[in-house]
This record gives sequence, structure tokens and C-alpha cells, in this order.
Amino acid sequence: MIFELTEEQQMIRDAARDFAQSELKPGVIERDEHQKFPTEQVKKLGELGFLGMMVDPKYNGAGLDTVSYVLVMEELSKIDASASVVVSVNNSLVCYGLEKYATEAQKEKYLKPLAAGEHIGAFCLSEPEAGSDATSQRTTAEDKGDHYLLNGTKNWITNGGTASTYLVIAQTYPDKGHRGINALIVEKGMEGFTIGPKENKLGIRGSDTHSLMFSDVKVPKENRIGEDGFGFKFAMKTLEGGRIGIAAQALGIASGAYELALNYAKERQTFGKPIAEHQAIQFKLADMATQIEAARLLCLKAAWLKDNDLPYVQASSMAKLYASEVAMNTTVEAVQIHGGYGFVKEYHVERLMRDAKITQIYEGTSEIQRMVISREVLKD
Ligand code: CAA
Repeated sequence: MIFELTEEQQMIRDAARDFAQSELKPGVIERDEHQKFPTEQVKKLGELGFLGMMVDPKYNGAGLDTVSYVLVMEELSKIDASASVVVSVNNSLVCYGLEKYATEAQKEKYLKPLAAGEHIGAFCLSEPEAGSDATSQRTTAEDKGDHYLLNGTKNWITNGGTASTYLVIAQTYPDKGHRGINALIVEKGMEGFTIGPKENKLGIRGSDTHSLMFSDVKVPKENRIGEDGFGFKFAMKTLEGGRIGIAAQALGIASGAYELALNYAKERQTFGKPIAEHQAIQFKLADMATQIEAARLLCLKAAWLKDNDLPYVQASSMAKLYASEVAMNTTVEAVQIHGGYGFVKEYHVERLMRDAKITQIYEGTSEIQRMVISREVLKD
């Protein structure tokens, strides 16, 4: 068993760390305050190849492994989880789904600009009445011969306003349950497709979250991904990898808060010495460091399994479940270590605490991860 990163993986991690410090950190508080999407920063991430990291270079990707993706997600998320969620959704849910399951013509038309960072993608599964219970899709894609007629509403869609390409999950044969669901590629600007107002959120406030409305949108048949009825499995297979990205995002939020708390504890004096010399603080730091290391190992293990074509459904859910709980616990403790300073925006930890919460909700709540894990451990 080798725990060392390759030289290339270390270089990629360092490049992401530098980018986060120089490009994401300035303005991160203001973007959060005013719910401003990091437009310029995302453009630069695209130019650097971070939006199509794992895609084959023949489709404009950087051809890197999932381990590198975890390292990048951790570094970006230490500073700005609103920017890193764009990286996660574009890479794992949109580019991966297209590269693995789309036709050559679809890859040519949609994957190439997404992997190059020229377009942003969105993954549209959640609905007002179908979040965790994802088989209960109410959005319909009626088969009309050469096209589908799409009707319905999607909720809480990341990149909802900024995306150009939307992967939309919809029901074609309601009597067939999950086997009657399709995944369609929808373009911004198609007639009947409207975007609702931006959501005013607790955390990741810079990210662009909207509801989407489809009213008699004609989607050509050639925009269906996979066989007729493959849509639910497409969503599940894609989310398996997506959960590694969100686990790494949670890891980054936790390690960002921990680094801030560690530095603060060395500087802040109470009762005649730095608070890091008080055992009450030392024990908190020890717990944070241990939990973060365990979360990191779960993320890297899931990534390694995926890179080696081994089953990773259980590993990715374990990584997401644990890392998101560590993100929540660590950020709460980081605020506590900062005392009153932790409660104001300039010290960053209150934002990280707010950002942590979504990692326990999106791409499957903690309860969904426990369902997936328990089904796996109870198999056979
Ligand atoms: N790979 C392949 N197939 C899978 C699968 C997987 N990982 N998981 C399930 N399936 C298949 C099953 O085998 C089954 O097919 P068969 O009947 O042919 O065997 C079918 O899918 C239905 O599976 P289940 O019976 O297990 O379905 P279920 O209704 O009991 O629930 C669930 C499954 C795991 C709870 C699923 O509904 C789920 O993951 N829910 C959460 C949805 C979610 O994560 N939403 C996130 C939204 S996206 C997002 O957040 C993006 C963002 O903006 C950041």
C-alpha cells in the first residue's frame, strides 16, 4: 500500500492551492455577502483545465485521475466552496456522465465545450416533490416521435442560471417506474425553457442556484442519453462519482476551517499564554486533525477505486457521509476557537460553517448515504 502522491498529483494540488490563494481569496467575503457568482474566477478555472479535469484530451479535457480531482476540490474548497461546487458539478455530474454514456455526436457537440470550460453544465434531478425519493419524477418527457415534449419544474439546480447545457431527468413511461425515466440534454434558450429567480441561500451564496421551468419544450430525440428508459440509472451512476467531489468539497471546508483555527490558536493570548497552550483548545485541535485525516483517506480511497475501475458506490457514499459530518463539526469548533471573532465575517470561519451545511444535503442527504451504505453492507 502506497500513501504517497505522485509528483504530478502534488503539482496539481499546489497549482490549485496557489489559484485559491491568489484568485479566489480576494473578494470571497464580498461575493458571499452579495450572492455574486465568481464569473471571472470560473472562467480562469476553465482556462486552466479544472472544469474538465478527468475528461480525455481528445474531448478537450485534461485527462487527469480522480485522485487529482479530490486534491483540487480540497484546495479550492478551503477558500471558496461557491467556486468549487461549479468544478464539482461540471466535472463529475455533467462531463463524466456525457463522456461515459453519450454518443460521439453528443460528445462532439456538448462535451467538448464543457470540458474546455467554454460552457458550464447543470444536472437537473431534484424537483419540488422529488428530492431524496428520486424515482418519483413528476417532470415528463412525452415521446412525440422525433422529439420529446418536456414539461415540469426542477428545483435547487446548481449553475441553474449560468449553465448552457442541462442534463434533465424526466419520466417518459410513468407506469414503468424508474425504468420509464430518461435523461435529456437541454440547451439554454430552447423555446418554453425558463429560469426562475436565484435562491437566497444560507451557504455557498456565490453559487448560482435556481429552479427551472419546462413548458412544452421540444427536445430532439438525438438528445436522449443512452437507451430508452436509462435515465434513472444514468443519474445514479453519475451521482456515485459526484459524491466523491462533494466529499472532497466537505473535506476542503473542514481543512480550511481547521487551518484558520490552528493559526488563530497560536496567536491569540488568554490568561497570559496563547490559547493553543490550553488543553481545552489542544483537545479540539487534536479531534479536528484526526477527523480530517480520516475524511481525506476515505475520499482518496473512493477516488482510487474509481481510477482502478473497481466498485466505488459504497466508498463514495462513506466518504460523503463522513466528510460532510466532519465539515459541520470542524467548522462549528473553528468558530468556537475564534470566540467573538469567529462570529464576524472578516475571519472566514462563519462562512465556512454556513457552507458546510449543504454538503450534508446535496447529491444525497446524509440519510440517503446511510441508505446506500447499509444496502451495500447487507447485500448477499
Ligand atoms: N448504479 C446503478 N444502478 C443503480 C444505482 C447505482 N449506483 N443505484 C440504484 N440503481 C438502480 C437499482 O439497481 C434499481 O434498478 P433495478 O430495479 O433494475 O435493479 C433502480 O436503480 C432503482 O433503485 P432503488 O430500488 O434502489 O431505488 P430507490 O427508490 O429505493 O432509491 C436512492 C434509490 C439511492 C435512494 C436514490 O433515489 C437516491 O440516490 N436518492 C438521492 C438523490 C440525490 O442524490 N439527489 C441529488 C440531486 S443532484 C445534486 O444535488 C446536484 C447539485 O446540484 C450539486
